[in-house]
Amino acid sequence: MIDFKDEVKKIITSFDTGLSEEEIIGLIEIPPNSSMGDYAFPVFKLAKTYRKAPNMIAEELAAKDFDNDYIKKIINVGPYVNFFVDNSKLVESVLTEAIKDDFGSSHIGEGKNVVLDFSSTNIAKPFHIGHLRSTVIGNSIRNIMKYQGYNTTGVNYIGDYGTQFGMMISAYLKWGDKEKIDQNPIKELLNLYVKYNKIAKEDEDYMNEARDWFDKLEKKDPKAVELWSWFREISLKEFQRVYDLLGIKFDSFNGESFHSQFIGEALKAIDEKNLLEESEGAMVINLEDENLPLVLIKKSNGSSTYIARDIATAMYRKKTYDFDKNVYVVASQQKLHFEQLRAILKKMGFDWWNDCVHVSFGMISMKDGAMKTREGKVIFLEDVLNRAIDKTKSIIEERNPNLENKEEVAKQIGVGAVIFQDLFNNRIKDYVFDWDQVLNFEGETGPYTQYTYARSCSILDKGQFELRKENKFDLLNDDTEIDIVKHLDKFSETLLNATEKYEPSLLTRYTVELAKLFNKFYANCQINNVEDELKYQRLYLTYCVNKCIKLSLNLLGIEAPTRM
Ligand code: ARG
Repeated sequence: MIDFKDEVKKIITSFDTGLSEEEIIGLIEIPPNSSMGDYAFPVFKLAKTYRKAPNMIAEELAAKDFDNDYIKKIINVGPYVNFFVDNSKLVESVLTEAIKDDFGSSHIGEGKNVVLDFSSTNIAKPFHIGHLRSTVIGNSIRNIMKYQGYNTTGVNYIGDYGTQFGMMISAYLKWGDKEKIDQNPIKELLNLYVKYNKIAKEDEDYMNEARDWFDKLEKKDPKAVELWSWFREISLKEFQRVYDLLGIKFDSFNGESFHSQFIGEALKAIDEKNLLEESEGAMVINLEDENLPLVLIKKSNGSSTYIARDIATAMYRKKTYDFDKNVYVVASQQKLHFEQLRAILKKMGFDWWNDCVHVSFGMISMKDGAMKTREGKVIFLEDVLNRAIDKTKSIIEERNPNLENKEEVAKQIGVGAVIFQDLFNNRIKDYVFDWDQVLNFEGETGPYTQYTYARSCSILDKGQFELRKENKFDLLNDDTEIDIVKHLDKFSETLLNATEKYEPSLLTRYTVELAKLFNKFYANCQINNVEDELKYQRLYLTYCVNKCIKLSLNLLGIEAPTRM
């Protein structure tokens, strides 16, 4: 594909401004409005050398002669030199590229391994709407990285270890009812846990009993292991239903318990660097010189801690996957935890400490009420997804009751809508889950984007579009057509940014924008009722949009039904 920005740079370089090529590239901007030009070069930096007002410098530069096949016009707009690309060259270059199967991929990940730790639900705890974020953000980052050529490993680092399992075992032995649990595993296990936790807070004996049970579990006591395995198994089975609804798969479910076998090794490595200190019978690491609070590695009763398991896990992952990046998609509440983890790995002398990245995200709350585990007011993700599917079904009944495959389509739209809304805003922002917004077919939503995709499918069907070997694009010169091409031209850069910043929202917004531009074109230009060659060229453009929306939705983890 032609790199138009690079052509602009070549022209500016030929003007002998005294700036390096790198500086020039860094300065080039995209004007807010394409009628002002496709690229803009601000001249403020030149004021010193030219000893003139920026406006005058820009005027002077814009009047210079230049020789370039891809840029057709230069003007000055105030202190900016603005460049207009040759649209016919742009259209040809972009549309030739857009039908390729790796359109937009920079292949930057080729030969590199990435581990992505995401979703990471906790056994015997609800898979609540708060976990939605880690699950869908992590999944889309994985999809995007895969598309960039990375070899990805998606790990669901199950929270299946720690003192709370001692509580659960103890609670079950006191009050548990197997039948009830089999009927409603998570809700019953959670009840047991909440009840026990409440009493243990007041009554030391209960707390000690729970600690003993966890200790037994760590020492592989058969009774403890049996109950724990059972809790684990029934919980994972429950979670699987949600993953099936979301269409998300993991390469590994190795969680906290799996990695706890490597804690001894990790402690040895920490000790070799003289980092361990004793404090009231417990083992701690002092991170004062990193300006971080003290870290508890081993409790006074000998139990391991969450962070100890994470240290062992990081070492295991480096050894097993030889990662280029080890990415943790975890809520921003755990910011300190990951800062401490990175600091410890650094102190341990691992040069890869900085490849461990915490991709954090803000909180989600419901417009119609809070969602606190402790208050028992939990909103299960499965219920949210099913409600979205039901609501979609009734919308379909209203709008298109004869649609084939209604059930499947309702699932694709309902689930897609929930994912789309989650990935719409910058991940670090908190957001409010609002039913009216999620399922709105008109706003910047999943259903709107999917609907545009389905529309493009039916246009292609109706026009019986078949790709030819030789293509011309000379008839595509309506503003709405050019705007689509310019947007397609930004796809690769958008994906690259989304990859480097671990920010799927850049792609989400890109995709809605593409849908909007397509709808403008559709409102403005006839596609199937014009003479043959023009019809073909417009269908070709439709085909490019169609492919790009589908690809983008899929990278976000959303399905693209062809009819809805
Ligand atoms: N299970 C944890 C939670 O729900 C998240 C685990 C994140 N991953 C990790 N390696 N610590 O909060």
